[in-house]
Amino acid sequence: MKHWRIEQVAWDRFDPSKFDPDVVPLVKAAAVVERNGDDYARYLNHVFADDPDFQRATDNWAVEEVQHGDTLGRWAELADPGWDYAAAFERYRAGYRINTEASASIRGSRTGELIARCIVETGTSSYYTALAEATEEPVLRQVCKLIAADEYRHFKLFYDHMKRYLAREDLSFLQRLRVAAGRIGETEDDELAFAFHCSNDRPGIRYEHGRCATAYMGTAMGFYRYRHIERGMGMVFKAVGLEPRGRLSSVAARGAWRVLCWRRDRFRASQRRKPEGGANLAQAA
Ligand SMILES: [Fe+2]
Ligand SMILES: [Fe+2]
Repeated sequence: MKHWRIEQVAWDRFDPSKFDPDVVPLVKAAAVVERNGDDYARYLNHVFADDPDFQRATDNWAVEEVQHGDTLGRWAELADPGWDYAAAFERYRAGYRINTEASASIRGSRTGELIARCIVETGTSSYYTALAEATEEPVLRQVCKLIAADEYRHFKLFYDHMKRYLAREDLSFLQRLRVAAGRIGETEDDELAFAFHCSNDRPGIRYEHGRCATAYMGTAMGFYRYRHIERGMGMVFKAVGLEPRGRLSSVAARGAWRVLCWRRDRFRASQRRKPEGGANLAQAA
């Protein structure tokens, strides 16, 4: 049961004078990652093979994630009429595969798997909220708000199932923290960087992780304000079993904000040193 449909978006309000061209390569990359939700559902269905309730919830979740991809893809095709969402997704899928046949979670336990899913939904919920508030283009703003609301519901979905498994598997606080920290650390791995490559570089241009991650992160990190990190930290704290709005959460949010600003500035400096990098390379090639 979807909470909204792609046809409900006010596509006729699209205003090409209202968006920063730097945002388009990121929307393209996000579209192909979201579209891959089907594969994650297959993986989760294997990991939770004897849990039909969770499997049903996962199948519904994947329908929403695929709709996120299709909606972002449609917006990117409006913003860049020469871009082909379906072709970009095929390219991504051909080069980035997760093991959908896994019989056990790569996080070591089902609780761990669900904590990792909570972290992913925290990231997407924060990201689309930040992007909605950073853009003045009315359609992108509406799309990002709708998606952010879904992502927050997804967090709650995985959190509720995580609590159920935690009662059975009894993971320690440190085990939960390790899974969460590990998943946060994967943000700059290939999933987004390779999606950036597939959706922005012309065929024939070699995938370079550093160049693509720099181009993606340098722009994406610029959307965030402290309030987004503060809220996201509260969700991470909740996922690992800590008080989400306590003093420790505030201290952690301030630390994370400082790290984000430092990383963002480093990515931007690196982008300036290589003016032909990222999306510009795709256009210049
Ligand atoms: Fe999503
Ligand atoms: Fe989600």
